[in-house]
Amino acid sequence: MKLLYRGAEADVFLGDWCGQPAVYKMRKPLAYRLPELDKLIRNQRTVHEAQMLHLSKLAGVSAPSLYYLSPQEALLVMGFLEGKRLRVLLLEPGITKERVETLGEEFGSSIAKLHAAGIMHGDLTTSNVIVNGGSISLVDFGLAVHSGRLEDQAVDLRLIKETLTGAHNRVSKRFMQSLVSGYSSVLGRKRAEAAMKKLAEIERRGRYARVE
Ligand SMILES: Nc1ncnc2c1ncn2[C@@H]1O[C@H](COP(=O)(O)OP(=O)(O)O)[C@@H](O)[C@H]1O
Ligand SMILES: [Mg+2]
Repeated sequence: MKLLYRGAEADVFLGDWCGQPAVYKMRKPLAYRLPELDKLIRNQRTVHEAQMLHLSKLAGVSAPSLYYLSPQEALLVMGFLEGKRLRVLLLEPGITKERVETLGEEFGSSIAKLHAAGIMHGDLTTSNVIVNGGSISLVDFGLAVHSGRLEDQAVDLRLIKETLTGAHNRVSKRFMQSLVSGYSSVLGRKRAEAAMKKLAEIERRGRYARVE
């Protein structure tokens, strides 16, 4: 198998599952934890990720198909999504305004579908978004939680906004505007405005917290 990505908690490999290209996500043992506890945590997080992935798909969000789950081995096998990471696409110098807008809209509507279903993704960075043509899929549901709280939804939006200004500043404003428009096309203007207001509130709080 080919190593795609080495993370702090898990390694992600490209392999094969019954003749289909598949991603193997394995949570590896962490030496600083007690072995018994480590196994339990890896086991639980793997199951949790599979559950949240499944719920997100039920919510109508495009995400990989789950092929196999082994809590004992802390292993998830899922469909490999062809495409490029949003992170890479947004860094391409030749990307057009129209493309930025379509991607922002699509991403915003995916996030809104999650939020409408009471799911907070928890790790909305541009690396966890795979783009194939005009369609966007989300991956990495390990930090997702059940939440219908406006505050948690705003925290999701905040992370994506921070990732955009940090890593994609050239396109961040246009992308974020389209994202909000896609978000409000699913959740309605009122809810989108409430989420953006909450986001601004969290940002203000963050600024004061840093000054203190
Ligand atoms: N099903 C998939 N298809 C294609 N690429 C994937 C898939 N799952 C993960 N990836 C890629 O591998 C990277 C790491 O996987 P991820 O689940 O985000 O691990 P981590 O929890 O360590 O961040 C992702 O950012 C994504 O680019
Ligand atoms: Mg990730």
